[in-house]
Amino acid sequence: MTAPRSNNDHVFYRSPKKFYPTAERAEGVYIYDTAGKRYLDGSGGAVVVGIGHGVKEIADAMIKQAGRIAFAHGSQFTTQAAVDLAAKLVQFSPAGLTRVYFLSGGSEAIETAMKLARQYQVERGKLSKYKVISRWTSYHGNTLGALALGGHTGRRRHYLPLMQHTPHIAPAYCYRCPFGATPENCSLECALDLEKTILYEGPDSVSAFMAEPIVGATAGALVPRDGYFQKIREICDRYDVLFIADEVMTGMGRTGRNFGVDHWNVVPDMIVVGKGLSSGYTPIYTVIVKEAIHAAIKEGSGVFVHGHTYSQNPLSSAIACAVLDYLVKHDLVSRSARMGDYLLKVLQGLFHHEFVGDIRGRGLFAGIEFVKDRKAKATFDPKLKLNALIGSRAFQKGLITYPGGGGADGVNGDHLLLAPPLIITEKEIDLMVSILDETFAEIAKELGKV
Ligand SMILES: Cc1ncc(COP(=O)(O)O)c(C=O)c1O
Repeated sequence: MTAPRSNNDHVFYRSPKKFYPTAERAEGVYIYDTAGKRYLDGSGGAVVVGIGHGVKEIADAMIKQAGRIAFAHGSQFTTQAAVDLAAKLVQFSPAGLTRVYFLSGGSEAIETAMKLARQYQVERGKLSKYKVISRWTSYHGNTLGALALGGHTGRRRHYLPLMQHTPHIAPAYCYRCPFGATPENCSLECALDLEKTILYEGPDSVSAFMAEPIVGATAGALVPRDGYFQKIREICDRYDVLFIADEVMTGMGRTGRNFGVDHWNVVPDMIVVGKGLSSGYTPIYTVIVKEAIHAAIKEGSGVFVHGHTYSQNPLSSAIACAVLDYLVKHDLVSRSARMGDYLLKVLQGLFHHEFVGDIRGRGLFAGIEFVKDRKAKATFDPKLKLNALIGSRAFQKGLITYPGGGGADGVNGDHLLLAPPLIITEKEIDLMVSILDETFAEIAKELGKV
């Protein structure tokens, strides 16, 4: 999309050549720009908006807290808002996760979990344990520590000289099984890859393993086989390695359960949560940890050598409390499961487009992967930027999606991630899918794929 930009606009945009319409207001599942155009938020921005846009109760909570106290530094005070949010989150989390550390960004929260894992090992006298193993085809953030853990070659490439090398294992990617297995002969080789890697690296050197329960940005809702995370948990326990679940996208009901790991009844040692935690009403993330981790520090050195200016800030805490109350009061987690089933059902209708290779997901967290050739699962030339093309065409038609590339091998592969607000109705899902249908038909024609 092109359009002139005002000479008064000094914002350093992500893509300086791109034209961004000016968002003016938002309500429910819709965002409106200053030209009056309406956009159905089919991805909650970047899988952020859970309870919907423009909820009055949240604005009320903001005003109330801002009028009382908006800021107190976490090294000097606690606040009732922070205490309340921690209690609500512990209630919402799997049993055993009892302490909540506050942050304001996802990458910051990921790096907090990495550091916390390391300090936990040091406090226990396991001084040699420092490595964090993660997976290829994953995303954990854009700051250097988080980027190092991620497994997206395209995003990492320029910055490799600045990053610490960390071990990666194969993803749980059934559509493109890295081990050539099929559902009939799968022995969860992708989970066993963790054990192999721990052994190669030396169990005495490994502090933690990090994974997204359902991969989001880098591959479009990759759901692992049942048994995968149970096996991961077993392996982590066997080698005294912490399991950190990155639930930044999958948490807070997005996949139809409170957290992604709840689908398999697995309890991680730490859960990183954000995005849906505030549903976009404020920047806030948390790391929720098992009591043993907190106790190791409390009874050990007594200080977690970390902290950020806006950690525990009362305004964000009060907003997240109001969001969580709204989520629970309106039973939006079950709604996500129900509407997610409906979304996945109607998305099947898009298989008539020859370039749709796979449709997958859980709850209102769905992915569509595109292929040049369905049988060979051949990917499109990345120079085509097919995912961006589809995303921007749908955007022009008034549907926001979250396109991505590089899922197949870090560079090749195109997908679309869909994650509408959990309040979406069947009618709005039908509208989403009909815009996708129209978009795919146009793009397929342009590619000569009809
Ligand atoms: C799974 C996951 N982890 C971490 C992050 C990083 O969050 P942030 O963009 O707030 O740094 C993201 C962002 O999309 C994410 O999807």
